Amino acid sequence: MISNKINTALKGLPKIPGDKSISHRSIIIPSISNGICEVSNLLKSDDVINTLEAFKCMGVNITEQNGKVTIYGKGMNSLKKPKKEIYLGNSGTSARLLAGLLSSQSFNSKLIGDKSLSSRPMKRISDPLKKMNAEIYDNNGKLPMEIKGKELLSTSIDIKIPSAQIKSGIILAALNTNGTTEIVENHISRDHTEIMLQSFEADIDILKNNSKKIIKIKGKKELISKNIDVPCDLSSSAFFIVAAIINDDSKIKLCNININPTRNGILIALEKMGADINYFNERTSNNEKVCDIEVSNSKLTGCDLDSDFSKLMIDEYPILAVAASFADSPSIFRGLGELRVKESDRLNLIMLNLQRCGVKCKIENDDLHIFPSKNFDIKNKSIKTDYDHRIAMAFAVMGTKIGPLKIEDANSINTSFPSFVDEFNKIGAHIS
Ligand code: S3P
Repeated sequence: MISNKINTALKGLPKIPGDKSISHRSIIIPSISNGICEVSNLLKSDDVINTLEAFKCMGVNITEQNGKVTIYGKGMNSLKKPKKEIYLGNSGTSARLLAGLLSSQSFNSKLIGDKSLSSRPMKRISDPLKKMNAEIYDNNGKLPMEIKGKELLSTSIDIKIPSAQIKSGIILAALNTNGTTEIVENHISRDHTEIMLQSFEADIDILKNNSKKIIKIKGKKELISKNIDVPCDLSSSAFFIVAAIINDDSKIKLCNININPTRNGILIALEKMGADINYFNERTSNNEKVCDIEVSNSKLTGCDLDSDFSKLMIDEYPILAVAASFADSPSIFRGLGELRVKESDRLNLIMLNLQRCGVKCKIENDDLHIFPSKNFDIKNKSIKTDYDHRIAMAFAVMGTKIGPLKIEDANSINTSFPSFVDEFNKIGAHIS
């Protein structure tokens, strides 16, 4: 993919696809509930399609008509043993959530993934599940993961790593376990699973105690399906928001964007840096907060974000780093260790590619320091992505300001945003 510099403004109303996290949950939860669920605006990206195929392989009747996906749920124990291994492509969310769900089923299964997913840590989910007596055999803490489904024990689990995937995997295991499972979450993480389960009438209690959250799930309670309208993805919106901020005279509007407060760090960070962002029509949809957003070209100042921020916007650091490269002072983003175990070592790739674009930056411990200057003395026009969709899209946005940049292995963007290039070109970009 080549992202060319544009000398015109970005203007208009790009269509942002459905939220990836909510889309996964909109397949998983209705599949183990009772009743028919019509899902509108489901994200049709590779990651979500892998989750969808996994449930079809386990006998769930899922149909599609007029852009709506219908899931015919028959309850927690209606899933069938898949005839073959379950392939999850690049999707860490599918792997961690399914590991939990399948541990408490009555059949055995095996999870496999692509090269990137097969190198990502799975002990973070198998260890807490083993505390519930789960039987999981992995490959040195990585995929493939063989799961011997069985009756689990309800217990108390303390989650030290800030991760919604770990929390959600344990919650899904607990739903089919006798007794009450208690999860102590020490750091905030996105709460889409809890929100959806509450609306599906799960027996789930949530207690907040400063930064700690205690989630109690009483298992074996029948879930009742509801229709879901998936809001649009803030993480995907962030590429457009930053593109409009850094390109002169730009003004764009994004509609029906999920602004769940456990995930809105990118908006807070950009506003702190001086971005001109306005919110309209704040409302809720399936108990998720949504609104319309208008963003204009703005002057940015650098900022110092502490590690707590990373819990609210872990996926947005690649694009925030691009924004910070155009600020009038340095930025420090602290506590980014989790970025090293995403679809790529994102922390290193952000630094490497910023340096290729002529931006001075360094990593100290797990902190990223960016020292912007007005001159982009491009050292290498080729952007290394290691097939990471968010690195590819973030540097495509960089290209709209300083390009042309050649983004390597850019088909990775199908992981989360297949229409990325079309939507950008519709508002005035030149990406080919
Ligand atoms: C996700 C949780 C986050 C995020 C990922 C989606 C989810 O991962 O990075 O893109 O849907 O639960 P962690 O739970 O590892 O932080």
